[in-house]
Amino acid sequence: MKAVHTQYVLANKRSQWVAASVVYLVCFCFFMWYHAVRGKSPSLLTTEKCTAIASVCCLALALAFGPLSRFMPAIVDLLPYRRVLGITAALMSIPHVLLVFIYLPLGFPQEYSPKYPYSWHIDHWFTIVIGFACFVLLLSITAYSYPPGRRRLGERKWLVLQKFAYLAMILVALHLLSMGKIPKNWIQWVEERDYPVPPGSFPTMMVCVSALLLKAIDLAIHGD
Ligand code: HEM
Repeated sequence: MKAVHTQYVLANKRSQWVAASVVYLVCFCFFMWYHAVRGKSPSLLTTEKCTAIASVCCLALALAFGPLSRFMPAIVDLLPYRRVLGITAALMSIPHVLLVFIYLPLGFPQEYSPKYPYSWHIDHWFTIVIGFACFVLLLSITAYSYPPGRRRLGERKWLVLQKFAYLAMILVALHLLSMGKIPKNWIQWVEERDYPVPPGSFPTMMVCVSALLLKAIDLAIHGD
């Protein structure tokens, strides 16, 4: 039995949209700085990475507020922010997808298209398919996060669709794992300590795992 009933909103105040945008921008700027600390000066490549990572952070917060509110009642006041954070995560993954398709092949002709354009994408087709599935899922949840969407789906199906946000997070984790950087880059960093902080994929993965772990603990203690 849940200690606190979940509250869903279908409209948000302007201040809540502003707050979600600020959270996104803070995460984006933090990870641009993080990459600079790792010797990667600001570029379209770091922008592409950091738009994606900031989206993941917003999604993680949106997913964490529900479980957290059942452990800390004060968090209940933050539940309306889940919708704005989730929609921000979905919409702000669009620049990542555009840059991945438009900029990566142009920016890295040697690495990305030695034989033909999009060779990296074809070689890493699983990463692309998982990313695409996650993208479609996030945009679908966003499309149905308005009153007409809820009316069209009906209460039960709509609630099930909201739960699919956790599947989106699992897909993000798979998207990251499938790139083959984990744990290779992490082990390399532990051995060499070439930069003061680990590769960006490390904190990103920790954010994904924390949000999913929190939900698992919530399910184990409170059920659904
Ligand atoms: C059509 C959809 C997508 C495609 C084709 C795609 C493709 C890619 C590619 C090729 C990379 C590696 C680029 C690099 O090394 O910088 C990447 C990295 C990444 N993607 Fe996606 N992606 C998609 C959707 C998403 C979505 C929806 C999210 C999460 C909201 C996401 C999160 C990430 C993250 C966190 C990284 C790692 C950035 C890093 O290297 O630190 N992607 N994606």
